[in-house]
Amino acid sequence: MPKHTALTALLMATLAACGTPPGDAPPAAEYRPLANVQQMMGWILDPAADVIWDNAGTIITADGSRELHPTTDEGWDKIIHAAAIIAESGNLMMMPGRSMGDDWQEYSRGLIDTGELAIAAATAQDPDALFDAGGRIYQVCKACHDQYWVKGREAAAGGEAAFDQYGDGASR
Ligand code: HEC
Repeated sequence: MPKHTALTALLMATLAACGTPPGDAPPAAEYRPLANVQQMMGWILDPAADVIWDNAGTIITADGSRELHPTTDEGWDKIIHAAAIIAESGNLMMMPGRSMGDDWQEYSRGLIDTGELAIAAATAQDPDALFDAGGRIYQVCKACHDQYWVKGREAAAGGEAAFDQYGDGASR
């Protein structure tokens, strides 16, 4: 093969390997998870879930029972905001660097689904649907904790780790 043909072939191959020219390349995914899982819980998920749970259902007091659900548009909006945090946190929990595997992904998707239910309930200003969504959110939190948060076991073993990241019972 003449020299210039070989060079052309090499150039073609290089261009093909590069795909689109740099200017047209899709932006690289530059995720930079900031909060660790414990902080995600304490700073983001737990406060949002409290907003839902504190505003759903009925409380029994010495003076009788009281409905907890919001009675104003602003009050319902706060529920929508908290529910959106829960739903989108499901995506954050699935990110590389946080995810611990297939079941983890499923529980995280559960946050998206149940958070979405709460958004719908609050948008419709439906107290019963909100109470139901609050219960479903709780089930998702509990399912993941039952599997991945083994604080008691780690504490009993004298370990530092609050949860068993690798599922093998070892503290790291
Ligand atoms: C996909 C798994 C997963 C889901 C879903 C999940 N959690 Fe957690 N959560 C964990 C893990 C793992 C820990 C232990 C973190 C640690 O201590 O390092 C934890 C710990 C916590 C803690 C203790 C944090 C601390 O400071 O020690 C709280 C509070 C908490 N979760 C609240 C919630 C609430 C509320 C929900 C549901 C709205 C929820 N979590 C859903 C995995 C999950």
